[in-house]
Amino acid sequence: MEIHNHQLNRRTFVGGSVALGGAVAAATTVAGSDRAGPDPREEQSAFVRARINGEHREIAVDNRTSLLDMLRERAGLPGTKKGCDQGACGACTVLVDGRRINSCLTLAVMHDGAEITTIEGLADATNGGRLHPLQRAFIEEDALQCGYCTAGQIMSGVGCIAEGHAGSPAEIREWMSGNICRCGAYTNIVNAVATVARAD
Ligand code: FES
Ligand code: FES
Repeated sequence: MEIHNHQLNRRTFVGGSVALGGAVAAATTVAGSDRAGPDPREEQSAFVRARINGEHREIAVDNRTSLLDMLRERAGLPGTKKGCDQGACGACTVLVDGRRINSCLTLAVMHDGAEITTIEGLADATNGGRLHPLQRAFIEEDALQCGYCTAGQIMSGVGCIAEGHAGSPAEIREWMSGNICRCGAYTNIVNAVATVARAD
């Protein structure tokens, strides 16, 4: 089908961007092999067995590897972003056993047996990959500009709502203060989280 330029508006582009991380990751996961074994250059290797986005995975890592690096570089899930790698920006936020954490600050081997959810696992795979309500709200509210912080913002927003810390814009700002947006999209991010919290 021919696509006209006027059809590629900002909302269409943003929607594609929000969903893209998961699609790319899914392709990578299918093609890759978890049991490829440890990198021979890495002497202190270990296996991490975890349920990641609903799928049992067994991943070889150097035991000094952060959870963020394991997800991005060994599990084929690059949707989780590395901003500061020092616990200061929240771009790397994922859910571990239902709790939001900065994945750059924790070792992968500490999460053997854990249930881990990344941005790629939020959409409903049993419903044609339908986006999570907060993903849809980010699109509707234009809650992103460059998009680099977005995966972390959405994962943190999901955790914030589940914790019951999204009762007002002020509360959302407080409990999501660890997620930095260099583009300054905070007003729309808070609106998106508040919209989903109200509907919850
Ligand atoms: Fe983890 Fe910034 S990359 S907090
Ligand atoms: Fe650019 Fe948040 S949208 S850093």
